[in-house]
Amino acid sequence: MKLLLLGANGQLGQALLKQLQLPQQFQYLALNRSQLDITDISAVATVMAEYRPDVVINCAAYTAVDNAEQHAAACIAVNATAVGQLAKLCQQYNSLLLQFSTDYVFNGQSNKAYTEQDIAAPLNVYGRSKLQAEHFIQATCSKYVILRTSWLFSEFGHNFYRTMLKLAQRDQIIQVVNDQFGCPTYAGDLAAITLQLLQRYQQQGSLAYGIYHLAGSPAVSWYQFAKAIFAAHQLQVNLQVISSASWPTLATRPANSVLDCNKFCAAFAISVPQWQAALQQLALGGDNHMASQEQDCNF
Ligand SMILES: NC(=O)c1ccc[n+]([C@@H]2O[C@H](COP(=O)([O-])OP(=O)(O)OC[C@H]3O[C@@H](n4cnc5c(N)ncnc54)[C@H](OP(=O)(O)O)[C@@H]3O)[C@@H](O)[C@H]2O)c1
Repeated sequence: MKLLLLGANGQLGQALLKQLQLPQQFQYLALNRSQLDITDISAVATVMAEYRPDVVINCAAYTAVDNAEQHAAACIAVNATAVGQLAKLCQQYNSLLLQFSTDYVFNGQSNKAYTEQDIAAPLNVYGRSKLQAEHFIQATCSKYVILRTSWLFSEFGHNFYRTMLKLAQRDQIIQVVNDQFGCPTYAGDLAAITLQLLQRYQQQGSLAYGIYHLAGSPAVSWYQFAKAIFAAHQLQVNLQVISSASWPTLATRPANSVLDCNKFCAAFAISVPQWQAALQQLALGGDNHMASQEQDCNF
């Protein structure tokens, strides 16, 4: 079975690549943005025509949530328009499309965990662009799996976990909001589950296609997540609670974006990943991939 991995240099892309490089049965072509810009439709069409992948795993995305507010066209081009074109090509070549979406499709006003049946009403450009991609795929593809995930963290790329570790080295006081709740998800866990799904697809020739929530457990606030990060790394930090109101950002974020993953667990008999265990492993193993530069946060 041939896999085409797009956005291979991102956080999830690198986590997937790390596992794909272990000896196993998949043949794959992994392309980063400089090798294939997914907004270049003719280049994407050429790769599809030449490689004829059985599965396209799309990890390419515009994830700078705040920047997206001021660069909406660029965000929509990558997250929505390009994915719409990709969906058409997947349909044309009978390829399974595996797409990742986000908890930010919800407005956060519910007091419960969100299910796939709940109405999406994104608060920001990024969330709207990802929702548009979902609609394009659902309207176009017969074979797709959309995994809505949240609060990705890992040893790779730009994420809250790595930002907290950097801040701990630099700042006396760290302030983190305690009124936004969600589900941290270790990218390595998401990658492992993704490959598990693909193994089944290879064996069975089919999957329970559709849209699913798949995120880590338990749900916490960003403050609680930060506290767990510092505890795992045994860092003494002056961590202070603040409210979202006192920490204005360009993009509005949902207060509650906790995802209910029961549909996924029932369909695939796979339990949700426990992020605290992954965090312990990361802390024990050290982080050799700390980036030297700061960018717009994607959390
Ligand atoms: N991060 C989160 O907390 C989070 C939460 C929920 C859902 N998700 C979703 O999960 C997926 C993976 O996220 P991630 O955290 O791995 O994101 P990421 O680290 O920002 O990686 C995205 C990758 O896409 C690449 N890219 C951007 N524009 C591209 C283009 N036009 N053509 C090809 N590649 C392009 C980026 O390239 P450069 O490296 O050159 O920038 C980057 O390598 C995304 O679909 C995202 O929406 C993420």
